[in-house]
Amino acid sequence: MHQPSLQDCLAFHALQLHHRAIAGRQMRSLFADDPARFSRLSLDAAGLFLDYSKNRIVDETITLLCALARERGVGAQRERMFAGEKINTTEERAVLHVALRAPHAGGADGSEVGAQVQAVLMRMRDFSDRVRRGAWLGASGKALTSVVNIGIGGSFLGPKMACHALRKQRHPGLDFHFISNVDASELDALLPRLDPHTTLFIVASKTFSTAETMMNAQSARAWLVGHCGAAAIARHFVAVSTNREAVTAFGIDAANMFGFWDWVGGRYSVWSAVGLPVMLAIGADGFGQFLAGAHAMDTHFRTAPLEANMPVLLALLGIWYRNLFGCSTLSIAPYWQDLQYLPGYLQQLDMESNGKHVALDGSTVTLATAPVIWGDVGTNGQHAYFQLLHQGTELVPVDFITVLQEPKQLGAHHKALLANCFAQSAALMRGRTAGEVADELRAQGMAADRIAALAPHRAFDGNRPSNTILLPEMTPHALGALIALYEHKVFVQGVVWGINSFDQWGVELGKALAKDVEAALRATAEPAAAGQDCSTAGLVARARASAAPADATDPP
Ligand code: F6P
Repeated sequence: MHQPSLQDCLAFHALQLHHRAIAGRQMRSLFADDPARFSRLSLDAAGLFLDYSKNRIVDETITLLCALARERGVGAQRERMFAGEKINTTEERAVLHVALRAPHAGGADGSEVGAQVQAVLMRMRDFSDRVRRGAWLGASGKALTSVVNIGIGGSFLGPKMACHALRKQRHPGLDFHFISNVDASELDALLPRLDPHTTLFIVASKTFSTAETMMNAQSARAWLVGHCGAAAIARHFVAVSTNREAVTAFGIDAANMFGFWDWVGGRYSVWSAVGLPVMLAIGADGFGQFLAGAHAMDTHFRTAPLEANMPVLLALLGIWYRNLFGCSTLSIAPYWQDLQYLPGYLQQLDMESNGKHVALDGSTVTLATAPVIWGDVGTNGQHAYFQLLHQGTELVPVDFITVLQEPKQLGAHHKALLANCFAQSAALMRGRTAGEVADELRAQGMAADRIAALAPHRAFDGNRPSNTILLPEMTPHALGALIALYEHKVFVQGVVWGINSFDQWGVELGKALAKDVEAALRATAEPAAAGQDCSTAGLVARARASAAPADATDPP
């Protein structure tokens, strides 16, 4: 299917002209001229609030951006996704994570999908209730107290982020650990701290073939069997996967497997059985609220007009900066410590989805696609990289995310946290002119020549854009809505860019090469360097020269 390139769209041409006309406008004066700017350029959806008034836009910008979304067919493609059409064309798969959170009585497409989803949810509920009540006993008859999720990418980032974000609502008798890296130091540091008789391992892998996960799972299994015997696996290992055959071949009974389907992308899978640690942590009802929050955002996304549609607006503002201003990154700044893993989660969601340079028809795109997503919690970032955000040569849009409700403990900190969050977006927007700096220094009695020398360093250009997203409370519902907001944002951007947001061929080459390199590292005889560049061969040779002799724990 050939689609004209974004550059050739009429609406894009109109945006280019508009950009030329308004790029120099100062947000500071836009605010000064229009006291209603905040109320006009903000909206509520699914319990979240978005303030997008601190962007370099006027009303016409939104009109033109929405015209672009229409010209690119966002509405039609959205319906194709909800209807379960195979919009992941390179893998010939439907994209139906929205069906995982559709309420009982059918999937998003009204087919048997809904029944399948509910059946797995019921099994997850039964299992998690038993673990949480202490009714699921380990092999030696003890209740389980530690949950270790072994998985990577989408089988790790979502559950870890959500379990941490909802930390305060977690079951007090269970502790949670997430092992992803093949680097042994993660597992090596954790295992001695665990009691094998009370530990549950969840091996989460859509394919059940991901090298890191399989190696970590094998090491964990060897540790458990070493302490409790092979029969204990049935009580201490469960699997989350689409690959029943590989799960049983690994030694996990299919009765202890929670399935999902190829129409759930790894980075969209926290709503599926991949969310089992989240359900164990906050209970089945809490997990139901998490799904309900996402569903509320789905409904908003599907029904609200583009001009008042939160994910659409976030997406189009992203395109405005990426394709018109040339911004190459987006910083995610959660002002809420428990959201510390959100930037990493959004990194995979956005960059694995839209980090593509090939359009749906196989042609090369002519405009930039996904920006680099990065960030850390506020206020830490303020004392590290915010200098560049305020005065550097890059224009970096920022998404500030915070929670309004004061925590029960140390509540006084919360106002300071909110103050910093709101002040940072104001400072980025407003800046401080050299004249203002000079006035301030003069009032402090500074000499004129010193003022002249210092003023350029202490002035801020301002006009640096940001969005602010407010959650009323850190609840499963609000978190579900927040994640779904970003999922749909990424979807809309993918449609506008004309790419497939749901495959990830770019990760394959490195995986394939790692197999050859690993074989060369493990070879007992000197490996032939055939096919390897001299850098890689040289690095392998150095590693081989410093390697310890193979020990019994090394795989053959
Ligand atoms: O290598 C990338 C990737 O395929 C991600 O898309 C995925 O989330 C991750 O690896 C883990 O895959 P799996 O769940 O199959 O182990």
